[in-house]
Amino acid sequence: MCGIAGYIGYKQAVPILLEALKKLEYRGYDSAGIAVVHNGALHVRKTQGRLSLLEKRLETERLEGEGGGGALQGSTGIGHTRWATHGAPSDRNSHPHCAGKIAVVHNGIIENYRELKGWLEARGAAFQSDTDTEVAAHLINYYYDYYEEVPAAHPDRLAGAVMAAMKRLNGSYALGVVAEDAPDRIVAARKDSPLIVGLGEGEQFLASDVPALLSRTREVYFLEEGEVAALYHNRVALFTGDGEPVTRRSCRIDWDAAAAEKDGYPHFMLKEIHEQPRALADTLGPGLRFVPDTSLSAIGEWDIDVGDVPLERWKDAPRIVIAACGTAWHAALAAKYAFEGFARVPVEADIASEYRYRDPIFDPRDLFIAISQSGETADTLAAARLAKARGASVLAITNTRGSTLAREADFVLHTRAGPEIAVASTKAFTTQLMAVYLAALKLGYARGALQPSDFRRYVAALRDIPEKARRVIRGNGESGGADRINRIKQYADRYFNKTKVFFMGRQCDYATALESALKLKEICYTHSEAFAAGELKHGPIALLDAETLVVTIATQRRLFDKVASNVQEAAARGAANLVITWEGAGERAFEKIATAVFPIPQTEDRLSPLLSVIPGQMFAYYCAVARGNDPDKPRNLAKSVTVE
Ligand code: M6R
Repeated sequence: MCGIAGYIGYKQAVPILLEALKKLEYRGYDSAGIAVVHNGALHVRKTQGRLSLLEKRLETERLEGEGGGGALQGSTGIGHTRWATHGAPSDRNSHPHCAGKIAVVHNGIIENYRELKGWLEARGAAFQSDTDTEVAAHLINYYYDYYEEVPAAHPDRLAGAVMAAMKRLNGSYALGVVAEDAPDRIVAARKDSPLIVGLGEGEQFLASDVPALLSRTREVYFLEEGEVAALYHNRVALFTGDGEPVTRRSCRIDWDAAAAEKDGYPHFMLKEIHEQPRALADTLGPGLRFVPDTSLSAIGEWDIDVGDVPLERWKDAPRIVIAACGTAWHAALAAKYAFEGFARVPVEADIASEYRYRDPIFDPRDLFIAISQSGETADTLAAARLAKARGASVLAITNTRGSTLAREADFVLHTRAGPEIAVASTKAFTTQLMAVYLAALKLGYARGALQPSDFRRYVAALRDIPEKARRVIRGNGESGGADRINRIKQYADRYFNKTKVFFMGRQCDYATALESALKLKEICYTHSEAFAAGELKHGPIALLDAETLVVTIATQRRLFDKVASNVQEAAARGAANLVITWEGAGERAFEKIATAVFPIPQTEDRLSPLLSVIPGQMFAYYCAVARGNDPDKPRNLAKSVTVE
């Protein structure tokens, strides 16, 4: 969605806001803007298009001495990078939005904006934009002006006006608010949209997400639902929406600031693909524990440690329900195969936006799992809240400590991908899979569905995954690495212009196919679809022709013959066939029938998505580059979908 930033302190606000917005641009890049308070006035600059355009404009002003001369001054300010919901991307729809003395940046959707607009217009408000946000600015300004009449007014006038406005705003919002006559404060508020306050010495920060704060501070408050924060130079005060003071300890963030930089890679997406071996090892590391002399063996054994998650509690659960969106839903689908295979328990993998509205039948003994990289996806949160309301214990698998999902869930399995900045998810997906496999194996063993020897074999296979992922990306040796990357680039150069690309696979390969197709859609804008390979002949085969590229993921050895038939069927219709399969056995099974085979190091078939998705990620990346697209900022998309 949108990204919001704020700064109050003793330094110039503009460079700090721009630096933070750069880190938040992945949340939206339709327009960008800032407002600083200086000399009793609001100074607003906003521009349609990417942040770089705003930067250029500010630089031109600085050089030409416009706007009162030189750089924009002021050490209190707010900033915004927009993903348009209400009102097309344009200068006037860009944030901040101003009304009277007030400037506001907003992430979310004000659902009752029409009704509020009418109410405000009847009281003389004149609207300048087509956005829902502008009503928040006018409403806060209204209560700021008529402060004395605000019921149960808070002693801080700006905070009180925000609290009064919140009582009338329906929908979701993270708000950053400044007033022209109050340069000594920023007021922030949240409901259903993330907002983080960063704590400094004589300066405080505001941001939608942690990476925007990392270069400035590690001490943060994650604002809770309905909370308001007042940021002053030397302190931050937290309140409930009713003005009651809130006291709690700040959290310390342990992410590395360098993790949010490109580190020499041309794009975050490529960097994040290359980070997967490390991210997988980091997620696996805390999940494994060497236990001397276990029930598994007398000499000791690697066991799975899922921290505080009491998986044994669901030993007898009749069912597991998993809800998620997008890539995380593909992880949920892979999880279905994993939990059913390892733990022999029925699993439903549901799209969160569907689950929340279908009045699901829920047994309180069921285990409910929500998967989300950001932990802020509105539909996933709603699904988790619904399950909780119906008596379920919610287990979250998320990459973001302190996120709403992590805080609301009963138990959390943290993936350790580090910050994922590129809109197209890569390392978050593979680390979600790693967390899923750990949980599924542990539950399988607890239920007696997995024999000790099988458990041991799978754990050993997981331990080898980070190194095998490195080989998928880089090859077997130094020059092998270049060869492997060159091969993917060659495929991309050959096929990037295809207008139809289909992915197919059976069982967990179907989850990989869906995820690979999504990558191509997102960053190449190519019409790509994924099919369960057996479904091909039930309809999609009508679409195949010589213009189609079919990418088959074939890692389920017992189904090689079936998949080979599907590849033949596609070849017979003139489609080019690329097959991602195991080195050795897979190559032998497919090399004669495929246009090209991309081999990956062998592991257990059931764990294959951890490796087999990586060629699809790289293929999509290089196709996007060949098309001249920016893989980090695909059109129309935002990293974190905090609205419905
Ligand atoms: O943060 P979440 O994992 O909840 O996000 C869910 C989806 O919005 C996300 O995976 C989306 O599909 C990505 N752009 C995929 O690359």
